[in-house]
Amino acid sequence: MYAKNNKTLGGNKMAITVLKDPMIFKIDTGNASYVMAVMGQGHLIHLYYGAAIDGARVEYLAAERGRASFWAIPAGDEDSFSTDVMPMEYAGQGTADLRPAAVATVDADGDNVTDLRYFGYEILEGKPDNPGLPHTYLNQGDGAQTLKITLRDAVKDLYVDLYYTAFDFSGAIARWTVVRNAGAQAVDLTRVMSASLQFPGKDYDLIHLHGAWAREFHVERTPIAHTTQAVSSFRGSSSHLHNPFAVIAAKDADEDAGEVYGVSLIYSSNFLIETDVDAFDGLRLNAGINDRAFCWRLEPGASFATPEAVLVFSDQGLGEMSRAYHKLYQRNLARGKYRDQPRPVLLNSWEGVYFDFNAEKILRMAKSAAQTGIELFVLDDGWFGKRDNDLCALGDWVVNEKKLGCTLHDLVEGVKATGMDFGLWFEPEMISPDSDLYRAHPTWCLHQKKRAPSLGRHQLILDLTRKDVQDYVVEAVSRVLSSADIRYVKWDMNRNMAEVGSACLPPERIGEVYHRYILGVYSVMERVTSAFPNVLFESCSGGGGRFDAGILYYMPQNWTSDDSDAIERLNIQYGCSMVYPPSAMTCHVSAVPNHQVARVTPLNTRGNVAMQGSFGYELDMTKLTPEEKEEVAAQVEEYKRYRDLVITGSQYRLISPVNSNECAFMTVSADRSTAILTYVKKLNDPNPPVTRVRLKGLDPDAQYRGVADGKVYSGRTLMNAGLNMPAMRADFDSVRMVFERV
Ligand code: GLA
Repeated sequence: MYAKNNKTLGGNKMAITVLKDPMIFKIDTGNASYVMAVMGQGHLIHLYYGAAIDGARVEYLAAERGRASFWAIPAGDEDSFSTDVMPMEYAGQGTADLRPAAVATVDADGDNVTDLRYFGYEILEGKPDNPGLPHTYLNQGDGAQTLKITLRDAVKDLYVDLYYTAFDFSGAIARWTVVRNAGAQAVDLTRVMSASLQFPGKDYDLIHLHGAWAREFHVERTPIAHTTQAVSSFRGSSSHLHNPFAVIAAKDADEDAGEVYGVSLIYSSNFLIETDVDAFDGLRLNAGINDRAFCWRLEPGASFATPEAVLVFSDQGLGEMSRAYHKLYQRNLARGKYRDQPRPVLLNSWEGVYFDFNAEKILRMAKSAAQTGIELFVLDDGWFGKRDNDLCALGDWVVNEKKLGCTLHDLVEGVKATGMDFGLWFEPEMISPDSDLYRAHPTWCLHQKKRAPSLGRHQLILDLTRKDVQDYVVEAVSRVLSSADIRYVKWDMNRNMAEVGSACLPPERIGEVYHRYILGVYSVMERVTSAFPNVLFESCSGGGGRFDAGILYYMPQNWTSDDSDAIERLNIQYGCSMVYPPSAMTCHVSAVPNHQVARVTPLNTRGNVAMQGSFGYELDMTKLTPEEKEEVAAQVEEYKRYRDLVITGSQYRLISPVNSNECAFMTVSADRSTAILTYVKKLNDPNPPVTRVRLKGLDPDAQYRGVADGKVYSGRTLMNAGLNMPAMRADFDSVRMVFERV
């Protein structure tokens, strides 16, 4: 044995083992083992990732296949050893492995081969930083070890460091890659993945989250086929269309059983998660920055770090995988004062009044909301420049006192006098052609010099690759935040990118703009959020257009979707909960008929569905009847009573709403003393069969009392036998049941 580092903390077994002859690397974490070996002429071969195994000598798993026609054999390797067949841990492009590579480079001589051979390894205590990029981190008392394996292309003198962090409190593995150019000439990186994975056989499904504006996070499950399948974005943000997350699931895996492998990228720009099945049914998955239009110049001595990919293996289905992500992302990715704090119940002005408001109207809404116990009033779009519609003024972050009829400071004080805090909407990354900012700085937007730019929602995107533009945004937002007692910010981003160029980058660096843009966003977010540590920041991109693990590092919650209809939200929140914690998911009760789908649902159901995440309202409070206001007050009280569960509890999906008339989910407190079950039925039917729901996550040996009816049940009985759901009284009816340990 060469080295072994064993740690057992918090009940999670964690070890990194290194053996010699051949070199074998094994990571044990939680319920999983991950094994690699150096084989042939220094090739790093993936041997195993899955449920924990004994020992590490499993090099027999990478069986050589004997010689076959057509395979290229790397110079010096045995005739039977082709990297085109072997499960390569992190394949370069241009040599014998012709499958989709993890990394590709080209130098000034036209050498487009990246031939990576094992160079060395290190075991690092803790988790090294990846500066400038969002990443998982350790809290005090958390332990972790990081295995760093270095590969090298000897011709280019290029080093590739593969990082694997194993945590002692989670079975997740965090991976990222750093490429260092030690050669004498510049190298263009045209592809560089955060992680590459190999699976034996192709009998898996790919599960991912797809959608569009107002219908994000729809779960799709497709068989892995003998082809290259990809989930990706080329929109400059992670996008509504695909989320940077995917699951490789065994055919028989479901919510509660079976083997699943989650891959989540902590990244908010163009991404790629691709699967490819080779001629012998070997499945490769690559995850990282989308290489479409990507090219990063590495001068001699320079290095490039990829975003982090977080892998979670579960042999107990999707539910356990999701809870592992929730826990890790809630306390080891999200940051700031509000990370562990129950979030305030808010009223957002958008669907209530859109652009049509003044201070008097706002104060009336605020007063009405305060009477129901709502704690925070959020003034959405329309308070700055001459913005009375979405045609103009983005970039002019100057309060429109004429429209308001007072200063922002006075408005905030007025709202505070009702007993509520105040929050404000921004879209800091944008610039309207019709704005003072654009008139002063027409080159400050992303653009291509020789072409007229495409507009999206009548707006352009600021060139945040530029330091001067970053400084402007930080200064403009900070000025407003310092001018009044603002406790919350909604940070929006409302268009896809096109004609993506920068006035400040030389032509050979055009392939860097997307990534430099998001690094600029991260830097601006870091500066603003750290300058205002008491402000709760909520991210938004027309709802979930940039709801990803990258942004979560800066902002602990995200507006999940511009669709606020309770029934549409069932699917959206179900999909979102696959990877993102409930605390990150903001959900509002809005008016009926719903503004997106014109559906009329009971207020009770709108409340029950929205209480799954960080809760609020988005309607004109002054238009509610006294009975509705009373119901709202009761909802707010109910939410406040149990809202710490949204942060610290565990979520269980009981009935999937996908292709189903029903949906049920549960939240259980960390100590299992409180459990909340929500059941929703879409269309009612006459004389229906009874739906029995088996609860999850309870203490089997405890007794629980239903808070509404006082009946006492055993935890084991509730989980094994279940509970009959009451008959529904109308379409879109629902029930929320709270159980407390006796
Ligand atoms: C986006 C957001 C909405 C709202 C509007 C304002 O669409 O998703 O919630 O803030 O912008 O223009």
